[in-house]
Amino acid sequence: MTMEQHTPQPEIVVPEAEDFLPLLGTDHVELIVGNAKQSAYYYMHAWGFQPLAYKGLETGSADSVSYVLRQDKITLVLTTPLAAGGPLNDHLNRHGDGVKAVALWVDDAAKSWKETTSRGAVSVFAPETREDEHGKVVLSGIETYGDTIHVFVERKHYNGVFLPGYAAWNPAGEVQSLGLKYIDHMVGNVGWGEMNTWCQFYAKVMGFAQLVSFDDKDISTEYTALMSKVMSNGNGRIKFPINEPAEGRKKSQIEEYIDFYQGAGIQHIAVATDNIIETVTELQRRGIEFLQVPGTYYDTVLDRVGEIDEDLAPLRKLGILIDRDDEGYLLQIFTKPVVDRPTMFFEIIQRKGAQSFGKGNFKALFEAIEREQSLRGTL
Ligand code: FE2
Repeated sequence: MTMEQHTPQPEIVVPEAEDFLPLLGTDHVELIVGNAKQSAYYYMHAWGFQPLAYKGLETGSADSVSYVLRQDKITLVLTTPLAAGGPLNDHLNRHGDGVKAVALWVDDAAKSWKETTSRGAVSVFAPETREDEHGKVVLSGIETYGDTIHVFVERKHYNGVFLPGYAAWNPAGEVQSLGLKYIDHMVGNVGWGEMNTWCQFYAKVMGFAQLVSFDDKDISTEYTALMSKVMSNGNGRIKFPINEPAEGRKKSQIEEYIDFYQGAGIQHIAVATDNIIETVTELQRRGIEFLQVPGTYYDTVLDRVGEIDEDLAPLRKLGILIDRDDEGYLLQIFTKPVVDRPTMFFEIIQRKGAQSFGKGNFKALFEAIEREQSLRGTL
């Protein structure tokens, strides 16, 4: 891979991960969308998420409707405003469909808010208790990049289906799981020169450490240029790679995102499966579109990654990519954007030891993205 020369970035000082913000996992991801009812149908019947909970006019929610879907440990909340004006419409108008909240499961939402705001996080809302007949939860929120927020969710005294205010939701129609298990990582795109600022935010304000990986350096190529660093919390359950655009021969895919999303935001959600061949076969059968690398990728890939358990033929047929690091290998594939603007997409990943993020595939991937950008006239 040809490395471009860049202005040196200031080195950031990243402390060891501290435990002032213990995170139990990703609680849920909330997307603001234009039509939550139809988005819910898409995530159920294309992606295999089961319906879980609902709030709307029928449950006393006058100004917005939310559908909650779940597949194993992944919970999505799809929210649409019911009237004109207000922050939800502002979000939609500015960004199109996209992720608003990355909610983190904690043992103590008040302490999480206090620890982060005292280190410089901007509060979205102070700790508040919500109750219903199933118990109580404590929620608090802080800002991160763009209009994205983190919500801390403390649910140890709650045994309802989702959160107070939501009713169980059991629509007609069978939903078949596709074997998606948990969120492996969620990637943010931030603006020019902002990567280190946000890495420092996660280090200082949230106690994350920069993950030692093959991706933690300048990964610009002669193709689409970007830089990326990976921040991880102490127990490794939460991993947030952060990208910024870089000057290259062509317009950066990150810049295209920032242009269409009108700022920083979540670029992709990587979801893990134990059987990527089965998962992706079914997703493709259901019409989900993936980036495709040229068939020549498979002519030499095993020279690069060595022996793998899977037959190459189905990987080639489906377009699944392979990469290896010191600890093992991984299989991954990326969808095309799943919204109208060329912004958010998904990654399907199966880890077989590897803890990195697929750097060896970047060149082939960026060329595939470039072909898509060229079709959009945004290269
Ligand atoms: Fe990824």
